[in-house]
Amino acid sequence: MKLGILISGRGSNMVSIIEAVRDGRLPGCEVSVVISDKPEAPGLEKARRLGVEAVAVPRRGRTRPDHDAEIVEELAARGVEFVCLAGYMRLLSAGFVDAFRTRIINIHPSLLPNFPGLDAQRQALEAGVSESGCTVHYVDELLDHGPVILQKKVPILPGDTEESLSERILEVEHKAYIEALQQLSAEYR
Ligand code: GRF
Repeated sequence: MKLGILISGRGSNMVSIIEAVRDGRLPGCEVSVVISDKPEAPGLEKARRLGVEAVAVPRRGRTRPDHDAEIVEELAARGVEFVCLAGYMRLLSAGFVDAFRTRIINIHPSLLPNFPGLDAQRQALEAGVSESGCTVHYVDELLDHGPVILQKKVPILPGDTEESLSERILEVEHKAYIEALQQLSAEYR
């Protein structure tokens, strides 16, 4: 299963996927390319250092469908079969979703449908809930929306800050993304 990973920033989930492929924890998977809409994303250099091709496809004032069409072209040119969003900060257009329907997944730092959108960890703290976590889900045209593949819970502890909670959720995210891909790659083909 040829994976394309889309990022916009740090790329720690991306690194975790590349390492899992390298360690043999994702048999049958390879990471064919990492694409960022932000040329300055630190994740691009991290991917290259891990030996994975990494390219920036900036929006440059184009419409979302035009920008997405270029990303789809870049993915298709490398034979990508499955798209992993990992901190990719843009909604996908209908054209993108149709090109890879049921073959695009995302990770979000909350137990969806709770707290979609930005600052999910802060939203959870402000809501006063006792647990949050992360969700790996199929992607559609809506924000942080689509059938759930798996969720992992994380307790919210007394004294938690946005930072401490984000860190604890991120650790679990790295495991959740790999587990989801193990499940999906076993079902693939
Ligand atoms: C993660 O918390 C992910 O759930 C959210 O954006 C963050 C990306 O972090 N969608 P990283 O770039 O993978 O380190």
